Amino acid sequence: MLNWFRKQRPAESSYNFPFVDIHSHLLPGLDDGVQTLEESEVIIREFRKLGYTKLITTPHVMSDFYRNSNDTILQKLAETNAYLKQKEVSVTLEAAAEFYLDEALVARVGNNDPLLTFGKNYLLFETNFMTEPLNMKEFVFLATTKGYKPVLAHPERYIYLQNNFAKAEDLIGRGVLFQLNLSSLLGYYSKGAQQTAQKLIDKGYVHFLGSDCHNHQHVQLLEQVRRNKYFQKAVSLPLLNNTL
Ligand SMILES: [Fe+2]
Repeated sequence: MLNWFRKQRPAESSYNFPFVDIHSHLLPGLDDGVQTLEESEVIIREFRKLGYTKLITTPHVMSDFYRNSNDTILQKLAETNAYLKQKEVSVTLEAAAEFYLDEALVARVGNNDPLLTFGKNYLLFETNFMTEPLNMKEFVFLATTKGYKPVLAHPERYIYLQNNFAKAEDLIGRGVLFQLNLSSLLGYYSKGAQQTAQKLIDKGYVHFLGSDCHNHQHVQLLEQVRRNKYFQKAVSLPLLNNTL
């Protein structure tokens, strides 16, 4: 009987997290994420326990609130890596950024100002939550023309996509890749975000999974995500996380 149960249980490996996370706020003091090196260390150890080996962390860049430059981000990355080495935490920690779509970002892309990307020139960006930015299509066209692959952070969280799924399909048609937040599957942000996340997974419109981890509570949520049936469906999609 015990053997029968064992046979029915799916292989645990099929429900593993990707090895690579591409969205988090783990560099201390740069944004509304982690504030100290010690906090970073604790959270990164949790990621390692979950099976992650590489974290591409993405501080907010927003002209009004988070004026992080490439230099400040890379300097803080070096400082954090030195600390992790000293504490013998074995992980590959790299940095890109989560760019807020504003006029400054459009201008930077237009001016060929080098932006922090990851992998094959993937550019992680977010927008305001309520209404589609007027310059969204212009930005996507400009970014793709300049050789970036724009990756929209947590599409399921935007009200303007929740209420109009055709807009999401239109963005994909324009070359935008989608990064889903894992905690959305738990209903952590809202019911609307959860339902949109499920729909995106059903349609196969998810290219990256991300934790968007800002603090210790966020990484702890991931343990619950592992048992979520939509997580199981999401990890069976041809995700790009593990190509990085
Ligand atoms: Fe984020």
